[in-house]
Amino acid sequence: SKVSQIFDSSFLQNQTHVPKGFIWPDEDLPSNGTKGVLNEPLVDLEGFLNGDEMATVRAAELIREACTSHGFFQVINHGIDSSLINLAHEHLESFFKLPASEKINRAPKRPGCLDGYSAGHSERFATKLPWKETLTFFHESGSVPVVKDYFTNNLGKDFEQKGIVYQRYSESMMWLCLKLTELLAISLGVDRMHYKKFFEDAHSIVRINYYPSCTQPDLTLGVGAHCDPTSITILHQDQVGGLEVFQNNKWNSVRPVQDAFVINIGDTFVALSNGIYKSCLHRVVVNRDENRKSMVFFLCPKEDKVVRRPHELVLDQGTRQYPDFTWSELLLFTSKYYRADPSTLQKFI
Ligand code: SIN
Ligand code: FE2
Repeated sequence: SKVSQIFDSSFLQNQTHVPKGFIWPDEDLPSNGTKGVLNEPLVDLEGFLNGDEMATVRAAELIREACTSHGFFQVINHGIDSSLINLAHEHLESFFKLPASEKINRAPKRPGCLDGYSAGHSERFATKLPWKETLTFFHESGSVPVVKDYFTNNLGKDFEQKGIVYQRYSESMMWLCLKLTELLAISLGVDRMHYKKFFEDAHSIVRINYYPSCTQPDLTLGVGAHCDPTSITILHQDQVGGLEVFQNNKWNSVRPVQDAFVINIGDTFVALSNGIYKSCLHRVVVNRDENRKSMVFFLCPKEDKVVRRPHELVLDQGTRQYPDFTWSELLLFTSKYYRADPSTLQKFI
């Protein structure tokens, strides 16, 4: 099959040209249209994390502005240890440098399951293959270290230490997500603990991405235009660049900021904000000379939790914009029906 052919060549990391399945239609290509640089706010979380009320109000105002316009901002002084971030990036490299067959055997992708290693064949864009490799695993709040267990049980004994690092990384991301839910609540004028309580028992998704350099970067994409169906996305990227956000009718590149995290609003949080906040339309372009790495934490409600706006937001806007749904229903819909559609949420409801 096509997929196994792609697997058999040691694909993307050694390609001298872009194979046919990876060539995207003209209208999607990075060279198409004018480009800008995103004017995202950079939000300093230090004051908020230290309990400074003035700083908290300022941070919430910046976040409100960003989330009502394009659903995207970056944070600095976020409380996450930079040595943990660096270690996670190093381990990412060591996994993706394994031979292709090892990666496939250690972390096989099972049909209908999100977790595992993926490359060449596409999860969300069947005809337009993304120029990237990913490893996806789950994180659960609570006492079971499911990330560490995934690494040890699937990737092997030599990945045990790396599993411990990703367990710590995922827990840190969960901590940061819950902190951000407080700021988001303040920014929307709802009870500060409302979203925090909702996400306390979250079952989230973690994905590490490797975008090999590409001799013809103008012909392909690392990830096509999409909105995340999840709630809040926390992304750490290296300094290579490539992430772009659609705003003001054009694609805008996101400049990598050392030690910062990129935060974007996903479709589930759009519903939780009663449509006041926007989910961010984004994509990734690849680089001619350098490999790019990123690590993404997708905050998701526990599968059976009913996604519903807080009552305050109904009063403010007069109407409710979305019917109740569960995260598992949206996830199933996303994976089954509208894989390549940037406006999944509108189709879903
Ligand atoms: C994604 O949106 O799927 C990945 C973003 C990135 O790697 O920058
Ligand atoms: Fe995304």
